[in-house]
Amino acid sequence: MNLIFAVDGNWKIGLGGQMLVEIEEDLHRFRRITEEHIVIMGRKTLEAIPNQKPLENRINILVTRNKEYNPEGFLVVNSLEDLFPLLKEINPDKKMKVFVTGGGTIARQLLLFCDKAYITKIFKDFKDADTFIPNLDLDDDWEVVEESEVHRQDDLYYRYVNYERVRW
Ligand SMILES: NC(=O)c1ccc[n+]([C@@H]2O[C@H](COP(=O)([O-])OP(=O)(O)OC[C@H]3O[C@@H](n4cnc5c(N)ncnc54)[C@H](OP(=O)(O)O)[C@@H]3O)[C@@H](O)[C@H]2O)c1
Repeated sequence: MNLIFAVDGNWKIGLGGQMLVEIEEDLHRFRRITEEHIVIMGRKTLEAIPNQKPLENRINILVTRNKEYNPEGFLVVNSLEDLFPLLKEINPDKKMKVFVTGGGTIARQLLLFCDKAYITKIFKDFKDADTFIPNLDLDDDWEVVEESEVHRQDDLYYRYVNYERVRW
């Protein structure tokens, strides 16, 4: 299982239910990496997506405790215990990759099942940000395996950093 997130200097990821920033090139990269695979998101992340439509060309799994909530185009699970049997059923040969795409609540619960993380590091601290994922730089179980050069969009600087789990 993989994590894919854009984080600020304190590994914050969201503010008031929204993303911190929109980096166009990063969104293209997100699409390139996740297309044809499986994406998992919590209900609040879905609500941050324009029109709350499923991400195209991907199998979209939504996690919510609300049994009445069944948006079109999503496979819905009401607990993480239900997630794993579903993944086995739809991806028995593990040909598709599985990406945890948001938000903080889901990432924190699924981190221990992840062995790779695609992190976009934004060189800025968003003081008011209210959602975070664990800082993998402070976690000895993870190590950086790839780092891009620094990119820029207007006054935002960022780089892509890939991590792999080195122990469970
Ligand atoms: N920077 C990035 O890369 C990035 C990516 C994605 C999201 N975000 C941001 O992250 C924020 C949202 O994250 P969040 O942590 O607030 O919410 P979230 O993880 O997206 O969703 C939380 C919801 O997921 C459901 N849930 C969580 N654990 C569950 C479990 N064990 N069983 C069943 N349902 C469960 C619950 O839905 P119900 O309340 O419906 O039961 C819960 O309220 C937004 O600001 C969003 O823009 C940032």
